[in-house]
Amino acid sequence: MAKVSKIKKIGVLCSGGDGPGMNAAVRAVVRAGCSYGLKIEGIMRGYQGLIENDLIEMGPRSVSGIIGRGGTIIKTARSSEFRAEAGQKKALATLKRHKIDALVVVGGDGSYLGANALYQTWGFPTVGIPGTIDNDLYGTDQTIGCNTAINTALEAIDKVRDTAHSMERIFIVEVMGNRSGHIAMQVALGAGAEDVVIPEFKPDYKAMCDRIMKGAKKGKISWIIVVSEGVVKAEALSSTITNMTGLETRSVVLGHVQRGGNPCALDRNISTRLGVAAVEQILEGNYGKAIGVIQDKINIISLAEARKRPFEEYKEYYRLISMLR
Ligand code: F6P
Repeated sequence: MAKVSKIKKIGVLCSGGDGPGMNAAVRAVVRAGCSYGLKIEGIMRGYQGLIENDLIEMGPRSVSGIIGRGGTIIKTARSSEFRAEAGQKKALATLKRHKIDALVVVGGDGSYLGANALYQTWGFPTVGIPGTIDNDLYGTDQTIGCNTAINTALEAIDKVRDTAHSMERIFIVEVMGNRSGHIAMQVALGAGAEDVVIPEFKPDYKAMCDRIMKGAKKGKISWIIVVSEGVVKAEALSSTITNMTGLETRSVVLGHVQRGGNPCALDRNISTRLGVAAVEQILEGNYGKAIGVIQDKINIISLAEARKRPFEEYKEYYRLISMLR
């Protein structure tokens, strides 16, 4: 780093839903910070740990062997207390008590809102790393954990396909993603699913059932329909389809299985790059920023901008799924 920085100690926390690769990001922040001569505090349980003064001093050895482990060793939480001014003041008091000069926040949309408040409202230096399986932030091609979650869901659907095919059944598979259809679309294309339901498209269940009946007449009885949790519950759609077609339908909710497991290569590597870049941005005095990766290059925008994800056009994905069913 060319500039001489006033920063001597940084904190790192994970916030919101965990995702595979968070540990790799924490490791990168800790080791990069140490290699620049900084002291590091790990904040346990996200903003809640900050409010409750739950911190641990970290060094290179405290992050040994975690690059390939799912979850996060410093734990994570959703803190409703931190949303209010009183909670933020308590958090700031902890940061002051421990002489922490800047904070790296690994998390999603809500976590970025908190990091932005710390910087914009209170002037405390923060940077954000996109840690969420939902891939619903702007300014990055990938969020930490998303690719692993997609692979986990694909592995499960491959297994569902075996039984769906053998018993000639329709399966509704519900995946995570909150209000984003990213996981569902990627998974549907990769699994060779016959249909997909996502928040970005208005579902037409009548048309879907017509297609199923048309297929059935030609001998196609097994279907996999991927649904994003943000639209409809798998069980409800399963009943709708059975009622409309008279065909046997089952539902599977993949749920939190998608959040666990060892991070894939892509998640380990982007987490590592984002973690180092976050420390370097802090040393450059570039605060209130969200670090991302676009076309394999580090990309930096404001935390506020990162929360404004534009509407995604999944038409091309849907065209392929429809053509290949
Ligand atoms: O934001 C990540 C995510 O896994 C979403 O996909 C999901 O809607 C939500 O978190 C589940 O949250 P929780 O673990 O608090 O039930």
